[in-house]
Amino acid sequence: MNAIATNPTTVTGGRTRLVIGNWKMHGNLADNAALLAALRPATLTARIAVCVPFPYLAQAAEALKGSAVTWGAQDVSVHAQGAYTGEVSAPMLKDFGCAWVLVGHSERRSMHAESDQLVADKAKAALAAGVTPVVCVGESLAERDAGQAVAVIQRQLAPVLALGAQAVCQMVIAYEPVWAIGTGRTASPEQAQEVHAAIRAALDGIGAGGIQILYGGSVKGANAASLFSMPDIDGALVGGASLVADEFLRIAA
Ligand code: 13P
Repeated sequence: MNAIATNPTTVTGGRTRLVIGNWKMHGNLADNAALLAALRPATLTARIAVCVPFPYLAQAAEALKGSAVTWGAQDVSVHAQGAYTGEVSAPMLKDFGCAWVLVGHSERRSMHAESDQLVADKAKAALAAGVTPVVCVGESLAERDAGQAVAVIQRQLAPVLALGAQAVCQMVIAYEPVWAIGTGRTASPEQAQEVHAAIRAALDGIGAGGIQILYGGSVKGANAASLFSMPDIDGALVGGASLVADEFLRIAA
């Protein structure tokens, strides 16, 4: 289902390295044009993608057409259509050529009270439309300090895993510790690997251990290689650094 870049390099376990930019609520037509144009000619080790705000999907589709860079959105409705003012459906994303959609980003879980079940329902809706969900999970600092990091991730994943191996094998998981997002405080490669290994084990438990698990949280050109050296870190979900072409490309180089 995922679009394949022209030059993907496989990493541990035969998985393709994947680096996705999450623009969050940033951008305007002029700045986006420059950023997207700078990504187009890139020849990289990783497959790259950008998840842009809804109004800019058409711009991304036009600017990236024919390139190895794919694009997606940052949220999706659980409904395919209907009287849901303000919502955007997965078939609409598909209409704009989206390969990806983020579901369950911590900013949506915390600011929009998205439950673990709702996130799983969104992942299911995306799959039904042929859009790959990138399911985000991550613990808060208080949860980590209480020794609950892995338990929280397992709780968040449970309704997703309940969708079954066939569905989960078409997803990507992103581990984003909340305390590392936008703070400049990255998880150490060892801290991230510990959680990634737990996620892999949970996926293995239903026969879906082969999917990509990305790390997110203050990833930059300077720390990407050490994170990617870990056996269960298959790429990155990048916020702030994805808005700076050189920095984003350095992560995927
Ligand atoms: P930063 O890379 O800005 O820390 O954001 C991470 C993130 O939330 C990506 O989804």
